[in-house]
Amino acid sequence: MDEILKEALKLAVPSDEEVQRARLAELELKKRLEPFNVEFLLVGSYARNTWIRGNLEIDVFVLFSPELSKKELEEKIIQLGKQVFEKYELRYAEHPYVHGEILGVDFDLVPCYKVESADRIISAVDRTPFHHEWLKERVKGKENDIRLLKLFLKANGIYGAEYRVRGFSGYLCELLIVFYGSFIECLRNARSWTRRTVLDPKKGEVRNGEFFFVVDPVDDRRNVAANLSLDNLGKFVHLARLFFERPSLDFFIRKERKVPDNAIREAMGIRGTEIFALEFERPDIVEDNLYPQLERAGRKIYEMLRREGFMPLRFTYFASEKCYLLFECQVKELSRITRRLGPEFEDYENSKNFISKERIFEPFLEGGRWWAFEFRKHTKPEEAVADFAISNYQALGKNVGLKIREGFRILKGEEVLSAPILDKLADFLGIRI
Ligand code: UTP
Ligand code: MN
Ligand code: MN
Ligand code: MN
Repeated sequence: MDEILKEALKLAVPSDEEVQRARLAELELKKRLEPFNVEFLLVGSYARNTWIRGNLEIDVFVLFSPELSKKELEEKIIQLGKQVFEKYELRYAEHPYVHGEILGVDFDLVPCYKVESADRIISAVDRTPFHHEWLKERVKGKENDIRLLKLFLKANGIYGAEYRVRGFSGYLCELLIVFYGSFIECLRNARSWTRRTVLDPKKGEVRNGEFFFVVDPVDDRRNVAANLSLDNLGKFVHLARLFFERPSLDFFIRKERKVPDNAIREAMGIRGTEIFALEFERPDIVEDNLYPQLERAGRKIYEMLRREGFMPLRFTYFASEKCYLLFECQVKELSRITRRLGPEFEDYENSKNFISKERIFEPFLEGGRWWAFEFRKHTKPEEAVADFAISNYQALGKNVGLKIREGFRILKGEEVLSAPILDKLADFLGIRI
C-alpha cells in the first residue's frame, strides 16, 4: 500500500517547474492588479497548495461592496479581466466571472460580495472566502492526501461537482481529508458510508440522516455534497472497498475505454436490441443548465417508450458539438395491432360510444369490460420517438425543447457507430475490456 501511494503521489504532486510557473504568474497578476486598487483574495486549490499535477488554475476572488448591483459587479470584473489578462473569456456559473491567462497560466477571476459572515451571503460564491478561512490552517500537512483523493476521484470520473459529472468538488475533498486526517483513513471509512450518512466536520461527528450530507462548517444548513449523485456515492464506496481488497496504482490512472468498432458491433448483435439516438443542435447555454435539461428530455422519452410497450433498457445523454439522447429498447418492432381498454358493460352510454368507433375488427368483452383491437400509431421505437419529439417538445426542457423543435435526426444501426456516439457506447452497453 505504501509503495502504491508513493507512486500515486508522483502523479498527483505538481512538478517544481509547474510550481515555479505558478508563483511567477501569481506575482505578475498581483503586480497588474495593484493600480486598480481592488481588494482580492487567492482561494481554491492554488491558495491552499492542493491542486493536482497538470491541473493548475489560480482562483482569484475580487471582493466588492454589497451595495453594488450584480450588474455592476459583472461590468467591473469584465473591465478588470480585460486589463490584467493577455487572453480572457467570460464564463458563467451562478453569475459571470472571467477566465484568463497570464504567462500561460490559467486564472479564474471571480467577483463576490464582501459580507461579514457566511449567513449574510448574497450569492453562493460569497461563501468561498469563508471556506478558505476555515480550511487554510486545517489543511496544512495534509495537502498531498487531498491530492491523492482528488486524483483517485478524477481517474474514476467522479471528480467535480458540475452536473455533467455529479461527483466530488475540490472543497468536499479537502473537508473529507480534514475530517478523516488522511487519504487512507478517508477511504477506510468510506467503505461503510451509506446513503444516510451525515458527516459533520465542524463537530467531528458522524451520524445518520435522511440522505448523504456533508455539513458545511461555515453554514450548517448547506450540504457540501449536494451535487454528488447517489450512484456516484455508491461508486466511490465500492471503489474504496476494491482498493482495500487489492491496492493498485490503477485506481489513480484514468482508463481510456477505447473499444474497437467491431467489438461494439458484435455486442449489438449479441444483445438483439434496438439502439438509436436523437441528435440535435446544441443550445447556447451553460453546461450546468444544459445537462439537467438533457436528462429531463431523455427521461420523458424513456417513459413514453415504456408506456408504449417498447421495453426500454436504459438511456443516456451527452453534449459535444451537438446534443445526443441515446436509447436502447428490447423491442425492435411491435405488431400493428394492439388492444385498447374500454368501459364496463353496465355503462351503456360509454359502451355504445366505444363500440361504435370505426374499426376493422370487432370489439370484445373480457373481465366485464369492453376491449377493442386498434392500430398502433407506431410500431418502431425510433418512429415513436420522432413523433413524440415533434409533438411534445415543450416537455423536453426549455432550451433543449426549442432546439428539438427546430430539427433533429434519428441515428440507428451503423449510424450510431460513428463519433461521438461511438465513444459512449462501450460504457452504455457495459462492454468489458
Ligand atoms: P474550483 O472549482 O476552482 O475548485 O473553485 P478548487 O477547490 O480550486 O479545486 P480544483 O483543484 O481547481 O479542482 C474554487 C473555489 O471557488 C468557488 C468554489 O466553490 C471553490 O470553493 N467557486 C468557483 C464558486 O463558488 N463559483 C464559481 O463559479 C467558481
Ligand atoms: Mn481551482
Ligand atoms: Mn476555478
Ligand atoms: Mn484557459
